[in-house]
Amino acid sequence: MLNRLAPQSPDALLALIKLHAADERADKVDLGVGVYRTGQGATPVFGAIKAAEQRLVDTQDSKSYLGPEGDMGFVNALMPYIFGEDATMGGRIQGMQTPGGTGAVRLALALASKAGMTRLYMGTPSWPNHAQIIGDLDLEWSAFDHANPDGTANLDAVLAAIRGAGPDEGVLLHGCCHNPTGIDYSADDWAAIGDAFVESGAFPIIDTAYQGLGHGMEEDAAGLRSVLAKVPEAFIAYSCDKNFGLYRDRVGAFYVMAAEGGDVLDTAFSNANALARASWSMPPDHGAAAVRMILRDRDLTAQWQDELDQMRTRMRQVRERLAAAGTAGSVDLTPLGGQNGLFSVLPVSKEQVAALRDKHGVYMAGSGRINVAGLTMDNIDKFIDALADVTG
Ligand code: LMR
Repeated sequence: MLNRLAPQSPDALLALIKLHAADERADKVDLGVGVYRTGQGATPVFGAIKAAEQRLVDTQDSKSYLGPEGDMGFVNALMPYIFGEDATMGGRIQGMQTPGGTGAVRLALALASKAGMTRLYMGTPSWPNHAQIIGDLDLEWSAFDHANPDGTANLDAVLAAIRGAGPDEGVLLHGCCHNPTGIDYSADDWAAIGDAFVESGAFPIIDTAYQGLGHGMEEDAAGLRSVLAKVPEAFIAYSCDKNFGLYRDRVGAFYVMAAEGGDVLDTAFSNANALARASWSMPPDHGAAAVRMILRDRDLTAQWQDELDQMRTRMRQVRERLAAAGTAGSVDLTPLGGQNGLFSVLPVSKEQVAALRDKHGVYMAGSGRINVAGLTMDNIDKFIDALADVTG
């Protein structure tokens, strides 16, 4: 039976981790997979997480099953951060825990499909795993251009996609810190996007994996909230893997907003629970329990927010430094200063990406995406020189 399987190439982004690890050059630079790095190039566990984990070890009295919805204390504690003061929008929003943001996206798309979504519209480029999940679920989908060549969002394209979509069609958007471009919508853009959803009745699916890494927790939720304030229904996929630094612990959540609380919302959840049970049964507990402990403790919350602020500040500094460099060879670095989060895409060819890796030990995705957090004040000049060398 196994002879019938066709070989699959490894996920290109994750394969970069191994390639970089095998490179023996001391001055290699890792701008590949999206993890935050300090100015010293480390990805330490947040102090607030360490403290919460210690409390967990000291006080957790059982590891008995929780259920497909996971740790509801975690799910509910996050809601005011995502949705604001009226966190349930008057009982219209309910959530459940998922294995990472990937689990949440997978659940969102599987549930949309089960509810009869006939087509999904997605801005490209997008996080490569979006297309992989869409393919695995066998969904019909269409692309629209997310970005203009000058590093701004292509608002006309997203509005045309939403206005052209029918009520049985979905549109997948990034809530903030767009992966891979770092190009987010402005407040006015989001207002127009919300109006377009109301006009067409298309179903919003918003993936928020980087809240707090752009301009702040509140600021990064503003676009999402402005859409939710207008539309009757939506799905939200959420990740704590970056803003709590919990990557391998796989901490995510999936939220459904229905036109009103009650039967429709409960039924949507019974379906989400059934899909989760059949997929992963229940999500891993540890990281979500640590986040719950942080969010229920004032001092730990303050410590976490301070650590998150430091991450964001450092990434802003790197972006400012890149923008101040102006150009490197044929690459204009100035748009990077106005972009958000971990990522930006450079206009480089696959050959130039390979030359950066082979000749200079600079690792980045084949799409030209860089993780700006991989740059430090020690390696940024080397990176700019290498870029100038291969594109000049
Ligand atoms: C990334 O885009 O690098 C991260 O979201 C990690 C991943 O799972 O791809």
